[in-house]
Amino acid sequence: MASYLELRDVSVVFSGFRAVNKVNLKIEKGELRVLIGPNGAGKTTIMDMITGKTRPTEGQILLDGYDITGEPPYKIAETYRIGRKFQGPNIFANMTVFENIEVALRGYSSLIKTFTYRRTPQIVEKINGILKQINLYDYRDMVSSSLSHGQRQWLEMGMVLAQDPKVILLDEPTSGMTADETYKTGEMILNVMKGKTILVIEHDIDFVKQIAKKVTVLNHGEILAEGTYEEITNNPEVVRVYLKNDADLDKKEPTAEEKIIRQMQTQLLEKAGVSTEVVAGQKTTGGE
Ligand SMILES: Nc1ncnc2c1ncn2[C@@H]1O[C@H](COP(=O)(O)OP(=O)(O)O)[C@@H](O)[C@H]1O
Ligand SMILES: [Mg+2]
Repeated sequence: MASYLELRDVSVVFSGFRAVNKVNLKIEKGELRVLIGPNGAGKTTIMDMITGKTRPTEGQILLDGYDITGEPPYKIAETYRIGRKFQGPNIFANMTVFENIEVALRGYSSLIKTFTYRRTPQIVEKINGILKQINLYDYRDMVSSSLSHGQRQWLEMGMVLAQDPKVILLDEPTSGMTADETYKTGEMILNVMKGKTILVIEHDIDFVKQIAKKVTVLNHGEILAEGTYEEITNNPEVVRVYLKNDADLDKKEPTAEEKIIRQMQTQLLEKAGVSTEVVAGQKTTGGE
């Protein structure tokens, strides 16, 4: 029997470059899966294929037994109910926090809905409920552009929740967050999104440890390893992938992306009991 969300031998070739190569991924209903891997490994591209943004060159994507390969994004979002949070916040900056959730709740597509829409007490209650879940109830009347970067990420998670998806895809939800915000995001995923089928792309190894049951490691478009947090962080292949660029990194001032990889290396090494010079650096997004 097929798993709830399944990628079968999925590959994508961008003008001769094989960004994803024969990936097989099986995610069960209600599972929370974390996808990690160096920058450029193909993680975001996998989400692009699941959501219909990018068509696989080969292979099949199945949801609940339905072949959704190559279906248009609106159908995947609305009919198959796969919700996605992109890398970096994606909100309506001029609207209030409350209004952003309201828009998401109404759905973007139907003109009829726009004419007949009324903000009933039930709707207000539902929006307030979501705002409490994402720690933004006290900010509900604030214009969303004045939120912190981390709060904007939460708002977008709330917008995904408002659409009541069956599957939630989160691309680096904690990028740009403080350690405290990162921890709260982990709690949010574990508590608020409980029961949903979730795929999270993440760089922060502490966050991965906090939330992960099963981790898939992608490298050069291929699955390198899959297992529990413990298995992955003790896997010599995985550690080597994160160490490989070390010599290059020492030559010059690292970019934001290299800093993330360094951070991960440091954490992996520390976990393995090897002493390292701690690399400082604020978390940033891993790049598109
Ligand atoms: N639309 C596209 N056209 C061409 N190349 C792309 C496109 N999307 C991604 N790529 C390339 O595919 C590789 C994987 O990218 P991506 O999935 O964004 O990696 P990750 O999210 O793991 O950092 C990168 O080399 C990237 O430049
Ligand atoms: Mg990415």
